[in-house]
Amino acid sequence: KWTMDRYAKTAIEGIRKQVGQGKVLLALSGGVDSSVCAKLLEKAIGDQLTCIFVDHGLMRKNEGDEVEAAFKDTDLHFIRVNAEDRFLARLKGVTDPEEKRKIIGEEFIRVFEEEGRKIGSVDYLAQGTIYPDIIESGAGDAAVIKSHHNVGGLPAVVDFKGLVEPLRQLFKDEVRELGQELGLADYLVWRQPFPGPGLGIRVMGEISKERLDILRDADAIYREEIAKAGLDRSINQYFAVLTNNRTVGVMGDYRTYDYTLALRAVETTDFMTADWSKIPYEVLEKISSRIVGEVDHINRIVYDITSKPPATIEWE
Ligand code: XMP
Repeated sequence: KWTMDRYAKTAIEGIRKQVGQGKVLLALSGGVDSSVCAKLLEKAIGDQLTCIFVDHGLMRKNEGDEVEAAFKDTDLHFIRVNAEDRFLARLKGVTDPEEKRKIIGEEFIRVFEEEGRKIGSVDYLAQGTIYPDIIESGAGDAAVIKSHHNVGGLPAVVDFKGLVEPLRQLFKDEVRELGQELGLADYLVWRQPFPGPGLGIRVMGEISKERLDILRDADAIYREEIAKAGLDRSINQYFAVLTNNRTVGVMGDYRTYDYTLALRAVETTDFMTADWSKIPYEVLEKISSRIVGEVDHINRIVYDITSKPPATIEWE
């Protein structure tokens, strides 16, 4: 019988066999996939592993610090690179979604390469690629839906011997199961998926620090209220999107002309199809009034009631 503890054992043996005494470098995003990958590699090869966390400034509120706190004191070597300024400089004036993805992906690889070179002799590159990434990136005959930047363009970190991708055969729910099996902290195991390009594809149109901060504050309130309502595990992914649409509103005696924020929430097992989540009205009401009351420059909230297909989960 196929079980997760057996999968973990086999995967650990496989990693040891593949890398031997070699040094392994992993791009750690703090998402479920790369965190489980890091934990698995830590169990398999301990301090032969170095994890580089590229903080591109497109993370959710406080997330950079949380990721750092979660991995700083483990056996593996952890490096955080604060690269917000570089990313924002390159994204200035860019509005096209695929262009944004491309730039973020390229810049990510560039930063990662630079750090990799500083480390010197690296033998293997590890990636938390999971099965749906491969499908959606157009491997084989599948159509290219979006240029998922974590597959394909490989960083040229010196001349490494090969790739370590221990999660290639797993779906998301299996990755979580494996994370639990490995004793990964609950809040990491149950962290909802977060796209590589981060909030860069959740701020519609041009990205700026100001607009990212507006989105971060609104998104944090959304997540807080969803957790308070006890819905954070039944809804598989939920996040706010800052549109580039401004509408007229009224605040006290004043007319406002501010952004519309969209709330997205989906229920899914494989993220290839998804239903929009029927969040109770009272919960939506609370979220809406808190966000317009607490976050400047947002005066209207809309709720996305489209499933996938035809809509994708992300807006860009
Ligand atoms: P879509 O929007 O295509 O998203 O329905 C499906 C799932 O993939 C995530 N996603 C990404 N993950 N790099 C990633 O690592 C990306 O470029 C990317 N784009 C979308 C999305 O959040 C959802 O969970």
